[in-house]
Amino acid sequence: MRTVRVNAASKSYDVLIGKNAVESLGEEAKKVCPGALKALIVSETNVAKIYLDVVKSRLEDAGFEVISYVFEAGEQNKNINEIAGMWNKMAEAGFTRTDFVVGLGGGVTTDMAGFAASTFLRGIKVIQLPTSLLAMVDASVGGKTGIDIPMGKNQVGAFWQPSLVLEDITFLRTLPDEVFTEGMGEVTKHAFIMDLKLFDTLEKANGSIRDDEDLLEEIVYMNVSDKASVVGEDETDNGRRQTLNFGHTVGHVIERDSGFTKPHGICVAKGMGIVIDACVRAGTLDAGEAEKMKNLLKMYDLPAEDEITPQAIVTGAMNDKKKRGDTLSVILVNKIGQAEIKKMTAEEFLKFLSV
Ligand code: GLY
Repeated sequence: MRTVRVNAASKSYDVLIGKNAVESLGEEAKKVCPGALKALIVSETNVAKIYLDVVKSRLEDAGFEVISYVFEAGEQNKNINEIAGMWNKMAEAGFTRTDFVVGLGGGVTTDMAGFAASTFLRGIKVIQLPTSLLAMVDASVGGKTGIDIPMGKNQVGAFWQPSLVLEDITFLRTLPDEVFTEGMGEVTKHAFIMDLKLFDTLEKANGSIRDDEDLLEEIVYMNVSDKASVVGEDETDNGRRQTLNFGHTVGHVIERDSGFTKPHGICVAKGMGIVIDACVRAGTLDAGEAEKMKNLLKMYDLPAEDEITPQAIVTGAMNDKKKRGDTLSVILVNKIGQAEIKKMTAEEFLKFLSV
């Protein structure tokens, strides 16, 4: 088992990564939640069908009383009604401040489990058990939790760090291909903004990492280490953490315009492709480097283009929650592994994106 220590300002914790990591859930939970008697597993229908029983057994074997809250899979259920369901379930079962929540699923689930934990009794512990590649490399690490409201995705939430993240690489075996590919959007993003070694590893693997679980474990470890270093420096998104938004300013607009039918990681890849082209036009990124980056996206079946217009991107981005005052923090990559945060007004961003 590999360990990445996350040293966020508010809390330090381990991310344990390995094949069959779930086997150690009970013992690890006892270590990080001393005094806990009860656990609530939060999961969604697709994941619960496959993994709820084993997770429940591991916790029960360790002596915890375990209840579960399973919601219908899908982003449309990332809302306050489901969170209220979780609060009520814990209250009815007599949860106290030493009890804990387990988030078992992809990013929607880990965000919601974390948010329910952050608010119940003004905050109880959460252990994250991500089952998707995207949740392993991004969503479950770093403490961003929340829900959607009609005006936008993740508009309500809290920074609430987990007490432990347990990443079982064998869980990725059951992930549909398109969901795995979506996760590669965030993996390639880490390579582009901060990790040349990861870039080289991905390039060398030439698009086939899924069937090699040792390599996959190594890649997940590299990504979690990247994320941990960023969160360790800037937990609350006021500085370096913003570089994790590379491709997201554009990607969120594409995602919202599709009525959230296009997967997040795919929209991020499109957003990265659009910004890479704009950086080349602006003369801040070498064309050869840009080509290598776009080739990497292609190698992992990720799109680098979209038909959205620069004006539509700017209009959408100016309504995004990431906007501060009347400027946007646009993330640029000046060379592979090196990102820059650049503040732009709407006019500057439009000029930057326009051919
Ligand atoms: N997913 C970006 C972040 O955690 O900041």
